[in-house]
Amino acid sequence: MAELSPVLKQATPVIAARGEGVHLFDEDGRRFLDFTAGIGVTSTGHCHPKVVAAAQEQVATLIHGQYTTVMHRPLLRLTERLGEVLPTGLDRLFYVNSGSEAVEAALRLARQATGRQNAIVFQGSFHGRTMGAASLTTSGTKIRAGIGPLVPGVVVTPFPYAYRLGMSEDEAVAYALRELDYQFATVTSPKDTAAVFIEPVLGEGGYVPVPDAFLQGLRERADQHGFLLVVDEVQTGFGRTGTFWGHEPSGIRPDIVITAKGLASGFPISAIAAPAAIMDKAWPGSQGGTYGGNAVACAGALATLEVIQEENLVENSARQGERLHQGLAKIAEAHAAIGDVRGRGLMQANEFVKADGSPDAETAQRAQQAAAQNGLLLLTCGPAGNVVRFIPPLIVNSDQVDTALELWSASLGDIA
Ligand SMILES: Cc1ncc(COP(=O)(O)O)c(C=O)c1O
Repeated sequence: MAELSPVLKQATPVIAARGEGVHLFDEDGRRFLDFTAGIGVTSTGHCHPKVVAAAQEQVATLIHGQYTTVMHRPLLRLTERLGEVLPTGLDRLFYVNSGSEAVEAALRLARQATGRQNAIVFQGSFHGRTMGAASLTTSGTKIRAGIGPLVPGVVVTPFPYAYRLGMSEDEAVAYALRELDYQFATVTSPKDTAAVFIEPVLGEGGYVPVPDAFLQGLRERADQHGFLLVVDEVQTGFGRTGTFWGHEPSGIRPDIVITAKGLASGFPISAIAAPAAIMDKAWPGSQGGTYGGNAVACAGALATLEVIQEENLVENSARQGERLHQGLAKIAEAHAAIGDVRGRGLMQANEFVKADGSPDAETAQRAQQAAAQNGLLLLTCGPAGNVVRFIPPLIVNSDQVDTALELWSASLGDIA
């Protein structure tokens, strides 16, 4: 009898039989409040009726219209619709299937468009697991260990992680920009630097929002040196952080945006967007793929965009995110092991630390497991696994946030 490879690590023992809104149901009919949203994917909730209807209709019409053989209407319509929500000027799109593939596509594009090789990433960032994307990833050595040699030309520089550095946000920004400039002076000449990749909120690396001033500092340097600013919105896009794009509050203009996860409520599709002046420098035929821009996934993405707009989910993300943040901060007051409560919108986290300030992964994992037992599904993240994150679907309401907070508080009580 075949079994699943142990290479997959399970965060909970739940076998999901059905999903509805913010809930998952196991095979015995037990209901769980799903504050994982499939790692930030099911933005409109599980099986939103509009997404289901759109996908069902598309399945019965055209499942696979391979996009370098024929073109299909859902892909053309999605491109038009994304043009309405993307930052101004980023009006050339390319589709693949996962976040990692889109990151690969952005790296290829950045190298071809600039004729330069090197990419700069920030320590703790996560950009994916395929070889190119893993080469850009330092959210934990488990992603890179034992698989080298990795893709060369990647330079890792400090992220302005104020809490970990024991600095104020302003100090952390100044420090990380100074170190970045030092990389330009010592490791990667600006003339060899194709792009800087950044997540607006460090995701798998511990849910640390990037201060606006840091993104602004990156934009200034990109303009000064002529490299591309690639914003990885795979986890932060589509309303997750309380604005449509995570980078929005900084007011910066990215050169390339990468999006996936929340884009299609669970269908595998991802995209990169860039201005024509950049995308026109890509070498035709150098990118593609059998399944990219799948018609059913496109229909799912179109319905997702409609639901986000009709149900004001970006505003809801900001409002419920604030409620969740306040509630988590209140609960944390009674638990010394929770050293930091942070996040933006519906991307919130608690960092667990020991009395000496070092990461406390054990308590974080016990709390996450206790929550699952109590009916609240959560995930951990961070290089040490000492951060518990809360990422409910964007449709979550106040009662559900309050229930999650009660279950979280009870779970912390259970392990005390
Ligand atoms: C910011 C970011 N980039 C890229 C990826 C990779 O996406 P995927 O797992 O779809 O390959 C992820 C996944 O968690 C992510 O959070």
